[in-house]
Amino acid sequence: MNTLSSYKILTITHKSTQLKNIGNFVLSGIDNDFALQQKLESIKQSLGLDELLYLSTCNRVLFLFTSSDEIDNLFLKRFESEVYPNLASKISLKESSVRYSGDEAIKHLLEVASSTDSMVIGEREILRQLREAYDRCYKVGATGDSIRLAIRLAIEAAKEVYSTTRIGQKPVSVVSLAIRNLLAKKPSKDARIILIGAGQTNTLVGKFLLKYGFHNFVVFNRSLENAKELASMLDCSAYKLDQISKYKGGFDILVTCTAATEPIITNSIYIDLLQNNDDKKILIDLSVPNNIDHSIQNNFFTTYIEIEGLKELVSENIAFRETEINDVQAIINKRLKLFNKIFKARQVELAMKEVPTQIKAIREHAVSSVFKNEVSSLDDDVQELINRMMSYMEKRCIAIPIKAAKEHLAGVVSTKK
Ligand SMILES: NC(=O)c1ccc[n+]([C@@H]2O[C@H](COP(=O)([O-])OP(=O)(O)OC[C@H]3O[C@@H](n4cnc5c(N)ncnc54)[C@H](OP(=O)(O)O)[C@@H]3O)[C@@H](O)[C@H]2O)c1
Repeated sequence: MNTLSSYKILTITHKSTQLKNIGNFVLSGIDNDFALQQKLESIKQSLGLDELLYLSTCNRVLFLFTSSDEIDNLFLKRFESEVYPNLASKISLKESSVRYSGDEAIKHLLEVASSTDSMVIGEREILRQLREAYDRCYKVGATGDSIRLAIRLAIEAAKEVYSTTRIGQKPVSVVSLAIRNLLAKKPSKDARIILIGAGQTNTLVGKFLLKYGFHNFVVFNRSLENAKELASMLDCSAYKLDQISKYKGGFDILVTCTAATEPIITNSIYIDLLQNNDDKKILIDLSVPNNIDHSIQNNFFTTYIEIEGLKELVSENIAFRETEINDVQAIINKRLKLFNKIFKARQVELAMKEVPTQIKAIREHAVSSVFKNEVSSLDDDVQELINRMMSYMEKRCIAIPIKAAKEHLAGVVSTKK
């Protein structure tokens, strides 16, 4: 039977390492479900994990899994060589990550979902990201009943946190902070803006830019379909990403935000985009890992806005929200206590599912093996009577533990309130 101690989290966050290092731990090549399924299955098999969820956001990479193994040094070494065989020599998984087990793992999951562990406390994007990560990992068969229970708990706890505390008031996000930073640089509202990426985050960037009066956009994205969707909101042209180096329109602001794990804007593409214009450009790179090659900041005349640099604005945000943290912790502790009961009850429920099959198997074994000779020597009507008696006993025997389990579960549910 599973125990709560089998829940584990291994995570690399803005608190455990520098933000710029997190990109090293983002899994690459998992764009489609088949690739994700292969990757997660190979991690599960090589490390002996039962269930696995992978989440990557702009300030964390998180593995939630169930396993009877402890996350000790040996486990970390195995994890690093399986998942990150090409880590740069200066970076180690052990030093960059934090690990949680059992209650602590569930508590951390609730803190992540309710954004108290986020760089921008109170940003709700994390809940969407967690849900989407779960949906994908579930779809490819990497998660099971234990992670389902934990995610449901995390979502319910986060909803309570956002609706009953002031932590979610005055909504903030990495994007809103980046836009604040951009506005502080007083760019012209006629600035030519290239958006690279048409996912959720750049869509939010687009909404903010429209709201603040910018109007001169062009969108590039891997798939033209999604580029067009964002472009229709921004009333501009859309192109496939592989056309970027042919773009002749020039730019003043370049915003990149994709899930690519290699730089998209290389030096040579940047030179093409400049169109021989050497005015100062504003570059906003919200991708983790970054999409704009780091050397561009040094080689060209730029102002660079990236997540790492938003930390100062973040500390103001924390000051406003810190007073709410105690209330959030109280909600998390209450939910955690409840989860202990729900988890145990679920294990009983799962164990009970086996009872009918096991009793049927015992009956089958008795008739076809243990008492086979004695039964076959009896008259047909006696055999039939025995069969009926056994069916009666089987039904009654199955009902006893199931009734007891239902009473136990009812006890747990009534303590929920
Ligand atoms: N959500 C947030 O609050 C937040 C905040 C700051 C930063 N970020 C970071 O922003 C990035 C994107 O997040 P998102 O929430 O916008 O994700 P999303 O909604 O899943 O969108 C992903 C975007 O990346 C593109 N993309 C994916 N793989 C690519 C590849 N190999 N090459 C080129 N383009 C690729 C996708 O193109 P298709 O349309 O063709 O699929 C899509 O435009 C991530 O690095 C994330 O950590 C997110």
